[in-house]
Amino acid sequence: MIRTRLLGAGLVLIAAVGAVVAFAATTKSAASAGEKALAIARGKYLATIMGCGDCHTPGTLFGGPNMQHMFAGSEVGWKGPWGVSFARNLTPDLDTGLGYWSEAELIKFFKTGNKPDGKQALPPMPWLTTAQLKDADLHALVAYLQSVPKISHKVPEAVPPGADYSGPAIAFPAPGAWDAPAAMPAASPKQ
Ligand code: HEC
Repeated sequence: MIRTRLLGAGLVLIAAVGAVVAFAATTKSAASAGEKALAIARGKYLATIMGCGDCHTPGTLFGGPNMQHMFAGSEVGWKGPWGVSFARNLTPDLDTGLGYWSEAELIKFFKTGNKPDGKQALPPMPWLTTAQLKDADLHALVAYLQSVPKISHKVPEAVPPGADYSGPAIAFPAPGAWDAPAAMPAASPKQ
């Protein structure tokens, strides 16, 4: 009889411990879901005020961002001494966007302009600006970019200097002495 009662008490205890553990796990995942939502909101704010969509959302530079194609890249080239570059698809689409870039690769790119394939970002991608972001803001920016709707859109490949290109482009004039570019630093010094 006593043994049965002890067994019963034991079972109640196990159930109670189980409930506490389950509750703690739920609270923890609710907290991290909350943190994630906060990071995404912060990243959205940063991407907006840093003008990422100016170049990466079509129509924006012409005064009318096409939000159906938000961050899906542009087919208007930027023509300069580097050839012709195109603001690329930043959505998490696997084939045409940033789907395969890890968080670490994105953060490295924003800090150094260096891509996973070893290439350095061509102008006018303002990586010298993103390099100033604090770590928490870099994580937030990436969390936001990874949360936007995937859009399949292949941006034209960059055209090397001197090669033919007849599509639409914003051409940079040869600068006068005042506007001549300084040598590009390998990585941005913190200001
Ligand atoms: C003035 C135009 C401009 C603005 C503003 C801009 N970008 Fe870019 N971005 C570009 C161009 C052009 C490229 C392509 C560079 C190249 O081909 O190397 C690029 C490339 C990138 C890439 C590399 C993608 C790839 O597939 O190689 C990422 C990531 C990126 N931009 C994110 C951002 C984010 C985030 C912001 C806002 C903080 C931003 N860009 C603001 C023009 C811009």
